[in-house]
Amino acid sequence: MTETTSTAADKRGAATRGALDEFVQALSRLIDENPSEGRVLAEAGRLLAALVAHDDWLPAAFAVAGPEHYRQYPLYIDPHARFSVISFVWGPGQKTPIHDHTVWGLIGMLRGAECSQAYHFAGPDRLVASGKEVRLVPGQVEAVSPSIGDIHLVRNAYEDRDSISIHIYGADIGQVKRSTYGLDGRRKGFVSGYSAVQ
Ligand SMILES: [Fe+2]
Repeated sequence: MTETTSTAADKRGAATRGALDEFVQALSRLIDENPSEGRVLAEAGRLLAALVAHDDWLPAAFAVAGPEHYRQYPLYIDPHARFSVISFVWGPGQKTPIHDHTVWGLIGMLRGAECSQAYHFAGPDRLVASGKEVRLVPGQVEAVSPSIGDIHLVRNAYEDRDSISIHIYGADIGQVKRSTYGLDGRRKGFVSGYSAVQ
């Protein structure tokens, strides 16, 4: 009887919990094996690609853009802070400063599109772009880490609509001491924290 009396909203709720829960469980099992970074990026990247292949599971409260700045909503934080899963929501035209992560990270595009420009140090006082800007569209995944390139600037590809990407990191990223950078190489420390779900 439950099946015949459940509403469409109930079914969407069940799907929401299912997709994210399955993802978190699979990621936990992977991290339990204490894998190399290369294996994490490859296997967690595949899990994330599967998660963002469907845009029918993210609760609306985690998809709300801010009026001035991008928002980062925690979807799941591992109790041992081995990884975290974040809904990163861009309002129209919003962008990050040039920043680093200090741990491995994977970015999976869920809705809209974003552009990421990598940077590297050409000298102690000079930060320069590495290659061309990468445009991520839904279903695509990009990786960052100190060993493969950790400094970038990311922006919403759109000036007239929101975009959302799902990020996973090898730490409770909201608590990690990180840096923003100027093109003159000047670093400024920051801890991102998280946006409050309304
Ligand atoms: Fe980033």
